[in-house]
Amino acid sequence: MKEYEIRTRVNVLVMEDMSAPERELVEAAKKATESSYSPYSHFQVGAALRLYSGEIITGSNQENAAYPVGSCAERTALFWCGANRPGETITAIAIAAQTGGRFTKDPIAPCGMCRQALLEVEHKQGSPIKVMLYGEDGTHCIESVEALMPLTFNAESMDI
Ligand code: THU
Repeated sequence: MKEYEIRTRVNVLVMEDMSAPERELVEAAKKATESSYSPYSHFQVGAALRLYSGEIITGSNQENAAYPVGSCAERTALFWCGANRPGETITAIAIAAQTGGRFTKDPIAPCGMCRQALLEVEHKQGSPIKVMLYGEDGTHCIESVEALMPLTFNAESMDI
């Protein structure tokens, strides 16, 4: 029997540990929660993408009475970026969530569908997207989407 282990390094940072651009990105994700449309879950999620150009793109979760129709904050931001900034490289994503007027103590991590969507972009652009998950007790940083979701299914998976 063969066996292998997959490890993911997570750096937990407080605001003082972060560079000014990192803090700015986290603050943008927190701010983006305010535009969440979440009358069903009352869970307001914000995502902020840092582009190589320096620009920040934000998105928030947008729900629907037909629940599966809604979009997570991450894909709202990602697809807006794909549609309006085609060819731009994304260097980082920050994610924050609040409910009942308070940001979560522990960070929330992107759902599987959003990880898959992010992974496609990471592979397409050929460079890592740093993931920054904000919680009141610390921001958990992972070096890439692939590190967050190893054993991926991607375009090359279909090559023989
Ligand atoms: N949600 C996000 O926007 N991003 C995540 O990473 C997890 C979940 C949204 C979907 C739904 O509108 C609400 O949070 C509750 O699941």
